[in-house]
Amino acid sequence: MRNQSPSENLFVDNPAYAKQAHLWEYAQGLPSPEKEAFLRELSALPVECMASLYAESQAAQSKQPPVLSPAGFSEKKSQTPETLAFWEAEGFALLEKGAVAAVTMAGGQGTRLGFDGPKGCLDIGVGASLFALQAIRLSKLSARAGKTIPWYIMTSEENHPQTVAFFEENAYFSYPKEDIFFFRQGCLPLLLPDGRMFLNAPGRMAVGPDGNGGVFAALAKSGALEDMRRRGVAWIFFCGIDNALVKMADPVLLGFVSLSGAKGASKSVAKTDPSERVGVFGLISGRPGIVEYFELPSELANLRDEQGSLVYGDANIISHVLALSVLEEICHKGLPYHMARKKEPVFFPNPANLQPEAPNALKFETFIFDAFVFLDEMAILRCERNEEFAPVKNSQGADSPATALALYRALYGDMLA
Ligand code: UD1
Repeated sequence: MRNQSPSENLFVDNPAYAKQAHLWEYAQGLPSPEKEAFLRELSALPVECMASLYAESQAAQSKQPPVLSPAGFSEKKSQTPETLAFWEAEGFALLEKGAVAAVTMAGGQGTRLGFDGPKGCLDIGVGASLFALQAIRLSKLSARAGKTIPWYIMTSEENHPQTVAFFEENAYFSYPKEDIFFFRQGCLPLLLPDGRMFLNAPGRMAVGPDGNGGVFAALAKSGALEDMRRRGVAWIFFCGIDNALVKMADPVLLGFVSLSGAKGASKSVAKTDPSERVGVFGLISGRPGIVEYFELPSELANLRDEQGSLVYGDANIISHVLALSVLEEICHKGLPYHMARKKEPVFFPNPANLQPEAPNALKFETFIFDAFVFLDEMAILRCERNEEFAPVKNSQGADSPATALALYRALYGDMLA
């Protein structure tokens, strides 16, 4: 390679880029303006970070699994009505003071669902989208508390414009526009099994959102964290977009955590069977955490106690609460990356494989719950599954719009709630 331009120098001087020399070759075949744009896009990607993630992933194959032990939990159904009322009143007091914010993580790709568009725009058949359901719940709660709950919605590079347009078309579901804050999460390139980056369409690098753990860096970078501070927020509720029964900023959970003395809390539900695709709560080397379904060794997934209950049977439903003070610390810490194998079209390098039948790409993501390790304690509230969890993950079968709709109807009938 001749030393010609800053982009070319990148490839010459940097071993991480040397591994990606095929992309330089690809750029040479593009007409001038497109070539420049492509090289600019490439130079903005974290190529060095990918090189080290790839190297670590290769070494990780011989890594020992973490030492897991059961985490305790409080069961909602075992509480007296007085205790629940007490927690709820405490939670309401926080909402009335304006001390609570809600964060919806809606940057995921929804590949498994096969829905063309941001997942939150999907109506499972209730007559309202998943975004609208969350807006309705937050509106009701805000009205009861007499204070609007600021709502921070995480999008990704890919679905940001469509998400914002959807809110505009729907007049923000009558939620005060000034209390909604969209912020984008980061993205990372996908890799071929040999560590090379690739294109999934002409001129387009294969990239994906950096996982829901990207929420921390994105909150800090976008100014959302600063906005929370300015508003006097003390507790932040986090949820995903794909649980049709999610109880937004549930006062019971808020009261539970603030009275527990812990700086964070999560809801769980009892796992249905050992193979259910949910993360489970546990202590990881003695610290609070969750082990994701594809990382939990099968003997632990199947482990039962004397009563026959699963030892790691508390499923994560992505209803977390963190104190702002903890969030501020976490935002400046790095989280570990997890690697998953995905099916992704490969346009370049050849041979092109536009409709792979088996996973052919490596995707690196961080998970929000890996931040729990920074807390001394994470209080867990085990809730009733039929009241809190209707996941929308797959187009058909388990955890699909049809199963979520049945769960929704069983709880709310024809009501929009
Ligand atoms: C997730 C949980 C799992 C839990 C299950 C319950 C994580 C990492 N995993 O698994 O422990 O038991 O839901 O249904 O939390 N998201 C983003 N950006 C991303 C990736 C995801 O905003 O880059 C959002 C998604 O939009 C979704 C949520 O995070 O709302 C969950 O993400 P997903 O990748 O679908 O996780 P699951 O594998 O379903």
